[in-house]
Amino acid sequence: MGRASLEQLAQRLTRDARITVLTGAGVSAASGVPTFRGAGGLWKQFAPETLATPQAFARDPALVWEWYDWRRQTIAACAPNAAHRVLANWSRRFPSFQLITQNVDGLHERAGTERVLRLHGSIWEVSCWQRCAAAPARWRNEDAPLQRIPPTCPHCGGLVRPGVVWFGEGLDPDVLDAAQAASDCDVFLTVGTSSVVYPAASFFEEARRHGAFTVEVNPEATPASAMADLVFRAPAEVVLPELKLP
Ligand code: OAD
Repeated sequence: MGRASLEQLAQRLTRDARITVLTGAGVSAASGVPTFRGAGGLWKQFAPETLATPQAFARDPALVWEWYDWRRQTIAACAPNAAHRVLANWSRRFPSFQLITQNVDGLHERAGTERVLRLHGSIWEVSCWQRCAAAPARWRNEDAPLQRIPPTCPHCGGLVRPGVVWFGEGLDPDVLDAAQAASDCDVFLTVGTSSVVYPAASFFEEARRHGAFTVEVNPEATPASAMADLVFRAPAEVVLPELKLP
């Protein structure tokens, strides 16, 4: 990791800069949360269509909940790492900082990060599967393990579903609008994401169109690498703490 590159980035991180950071599963890898693609990735062990679609849930809600219960227990045993802590620090230090994450694990929030946009929802939220009128749109449930599988709606007694975005589902339009707006920035970092899932991957291109200085932090090459102004080919928990801000 070049010292000159670190300095080049640090110089851009001024108090007035509009800084947007997009994170993916790689930012939580050092905490022990499995990523999706790559060696040991969740989608290497499990087929997404059997676990992460509305059709899979309709077919076998107990199976889907068992998988989410296992993931919730895994995440509950993990703690934020140095990368989460640096980004939490930036969120307090830079008035125009915005974090966009594809992660549902809540580790950015646990590190104390302000202004987090969760593109794919939260594994710690649930909603009524029937969308019954008495239930709020979503609510927190932090039981790990769950008291019963599948869990039920306290309002109608029907099923509840995980508060995450599944394949084939749209993103929350307000979150999407806010993420698009945040792509109009001065410095855009893409950290720990394979940059293959849209629309998340499009924010990097959007930032470039707006003239942002673009940076990738990832030990492996991705479709964003060739377009980035700076690439740090190393783990996020190593690169981010190395940046010495003025
Ligand atoms: P992926 O699993 O696709 O990619 C993780 C990326 O993190 C890879 O490019 C790794 O090289 C990189 N990586 C691994 N360790 C790292 C480290 N210590 N520091 C930095 N980078 C590291 O995860 P995402 O890109 O987040 O969506 O996947 C996007 C979406 O696809 C997820 O939100 C999920 C999944 O299907 C849904 O479930 C809707």
